[in-house]
Amino acid sequence: MRYGYFDDARREYVITRPDTPVPWINYLGTDEYFGIVSNTAGGYSWHLDARLRRLTRYRYNNVPGDSGGRYLYLRDDASGEYWSPSWQPVRTPLDSYECRHGLSYTAISSSRAGIATETVYFVPRGENHEVWRLSVTNTRERAAEVSVFSSVEFALWDAQDDTTNFQRNYSTGEVEVVGGVIYHKTEYRERRDHFAYFACSEPLAGFETQREAFLGPYRGFHEPLGVERGELGNSIAHGWSPHGAHHVRLALQPGETREVVFLLGYWANPKDAKFEATGVVNKAGVKPVIEKWLDPQTVADALADLRSYWEDLLGVLHVDTPDRDTNRMVSIWNTYQCMVTFNMSRSVSSYETGISRGMGFRDSCQDLLGSVQLDGPRARQRIIDLAATQFASGGAYHQYQPLTKTGNDAIGSGFNDDPLWLVLGVAAYLKETGDTSILDETVSFSDGGEATLYGHLERSVQYTLDRTGPHGLPLIGRADWNDCLNLNCFSETPGESFQTTENREGGVAESVFIAGLFTLAARELAGIAALAGREAEAESYRADAEKMAAITAEHGWDGEWFLRAYDHFGNPVGSGKNAEAQIFLEPQGMCVMAGIGLTDAANPASGTLAERALSSVRERLTTPHGIMLLQPAFTTYHVELGEISSYPPGYKENASVFCHTNPWVMIAAALTGDGDAAYDYYRRINPSAREAIGDVHKCEPYVYAQMIAGRDAPTHGEAKNSWLTGTAAWNYVAITQWILGIRPELGGLRVDPVIPSSWPGFTATRRFRDATYQITVRRAGTLDSGIAEGASVTVNGERVIGTLLPLAPAGDTVRVEVVLPS
Ligand code: BGC
Ligand code: NOJ
Repeated sequence: MRYGYFDDARREYVITRPDTPVPWINYLGTDEYFGIVSNTAGGYSWHLDARLRRLTRYRYNNVPGDSGGRYLYLRDDASGEYWSPSWQPVRTPLDSYECRHGLSYTAISSSRAGIATETVYFVPRGENHEVWRLSVTNTRERAAEVSVFSSVEFALWDAQDDTTNFQRNYSTGEVEVVGGVIYHKTEYRERRDHFAYFACSEPLAGFETQREAFLGPYRGFHEPLGVERGELGNSIAHGWSPHGAHHVRLALQPGETREVVFLLGYWANPKDAKFEATGVVNKAGVKPVIEKWLDPQTVADALADLRSYWEDLLGVLHVDTPDRDTNRMVSIWNTYQCMVTFNMSRSVSSYETGISRGMGFRDSCQDLLGSVQLDGPRARQRIIDLAATQFASGGAYHQYQPLTKTGNDAIGSGFNDDPLWLVLGVAAYLKETGDTSILDETVSFSDGGEATLYGHLERSVQYTLDRTGPHGLPLIGRADWNDCLNLNCFSETPGESFQTTENREGGVAESVFIAGLFTLAARELAGIAALAGREAEAESYRADAEKMAAITAEHGWDGEWFLRAYDHFGNPVGSGKNAEAQIFLEPQGMCVMAGIGLTDAANPASGTLAERALSSVRERLTTPHGIMLLQPAFTTYHVELGEISSYPPGYKENASVFCHTNPWVMIAAALTGDGDAAYDYYRRINPSAREAIGDVHKCEPYVYAQMIAGRDAPTHGEAKNSWLTGTAAWNYVAITQWILGIRPELGGLRVDPVIPSSWPGFTATRRFRDATYQITVRRAGTLDSGIAEGASVTVNGERVIGTLLPLAPAGDTVRVEVVLPS
């Protein structure tokens, strides 16, 4: 069942009924001011940091769900009837409804009783405010008297404190209302010279700033007393719950449309501005901003500007393949999701509250893999910020807060894979931009001292070399990529859970996954060292990689697939010897990506380790809904393995289709030359390809979800945790770089497709290092000769040797033709 459709021409997903299985959300903002918005206008906003600088409140885990948002109410003043044009929160049936989620904007249109509205929500580029542009049209044959009410609930800045510290917060709230603008200024007295403002382009019939005055006692957002009465009481909040509500009356002739602009923003006075010790807001700076942005023309121009920003970003890669689902994901939605993950890391979604997680170290490093091509300067800064949360040992804080850019001590460090992802992120940046100057940037360590970024990378790799276990494999520490595989939870005490035992000192559990990741990272660092003219170091990293690959092939191989780990007691994890969880996906994908066992089968009849690992994945882990993380699922709890078996079978790390890892297998398959398998796995989890099963999948069909319930789950095929997941970056890498084969390398752009046999070819346009490559890929026909082995490539009609394209001069457009063996 479908709940909408893709409008590819407008780059929008159109939701045609409001009651989607779960809220289908979108993101507003591209720079510092951000928000989430659902298809029924739910969501909230923040500036820079969703925990520390929250503008509006959201009611988590509420019933009904998705409560709190950018709400508008319409009231027919003749009949007294009122409704929400976004359906929620009043939920009056609408005569028509449509939500268009576009790139950094959302437009919700609906009509009832002859009054039609469209509300466009967006954050103008470079501004610290959001615009709600409401158009109201009277489609009746007679005049209409309509009231419009707006409503936002202000959060008292620190979102964690806002939901817990009521003994204080019920007394701190303060507002001012001047010239129809509502200023929320809680904290202003503390000389934090900042405030939120909520303005409206029309003269006001009234306002409220105290939530209870707007709603009335014991009422919810679905039946505000002020809206019911058609009149607001101009309350001024002193403590309790500061709120922003405007009331505008419109008299509309038949066919008439009126536009009303609402502006919700964040303002911080410049450091040298005069501070009013009285607590009266210094509005001088923001006044012209508000005046400017309430002008409909400014708003229209900014919306056009936002569209051209995205037009430009999407111009980096556009593909036209025989598969519509591939085209729209690659050319539009997957790119968009990569940018959103870059902006948000794992902080805010329908599954992340904005409170508990900031920027994840491994998460953000992986997000870079799918977003370096979109904004080089911001990627560069992100790399520096991440490296600055490393310790001199090379280890890293697992997370940091975006506002302060300092590591989160509550979560700490000790996830032994973390530092290696930085090498991959920097390699991706260098491949895309060629900007080697980043390697010479001096970056400090969290615990004192500093080194160049190159020095940080050296320590990242050294961190693993300094921490190997009994088999010579890397120690896992608290966990590796799989946060729930906590193999140092040893306990002799019955009844202890992973929560009380996690991360005991002295654990010697080893990770085959980190061995694969290390091999890959050491190879990448060798390439970076060579690029920087450090040939001897390059050689030594190559040797480290070879050594780890050999150890992995010896101690990390179970017979038909790669082992997952050894626990603290030296027992294998992910082995045929285990009763449950005999095979895990992660090491199969990662080790093959690292090139371990890719060539040279010991026994040619049985195939290379890579081929055998991949056929085990196919046999044991593959479902129609994607590849499961492990099999058989854990049915019993194992304290010594940590959080993993705390999940019911088929969910999350316990044998779901953990989508993040599926592209590793796609890439591995492409590396073995198996385009059919790679593409088959790609399609199984492509959200657009799953659109028709919306009632099973449940999450948004325009973005990847972190997980799809596995075969062992009663809800097999049901997705969860959409949007903020490494799935976005890795699928982008798998389809664009390995299946379509358009792959940035340190030496330039390679085009080496491994496409499904059913495709005759495809075309693509790729912007790379300031030149444009127009790529045509086709299979050899009877007239082509000499293409038996590998692809034959011509650039502007000239044959090149191999598949690496010569770097085109900046500004040039070159024609690339690739002929694949038929
Ligand atoms: C989840 C993991 C996640 C971790 C983050 C766990 O409960 O299952 O997917 O990485 O929390 O802290
Ligand atoms: C989600 C986390 O954000 C990510 O860092 C982790 O690798 C996966 N879960 C797997 O546990």
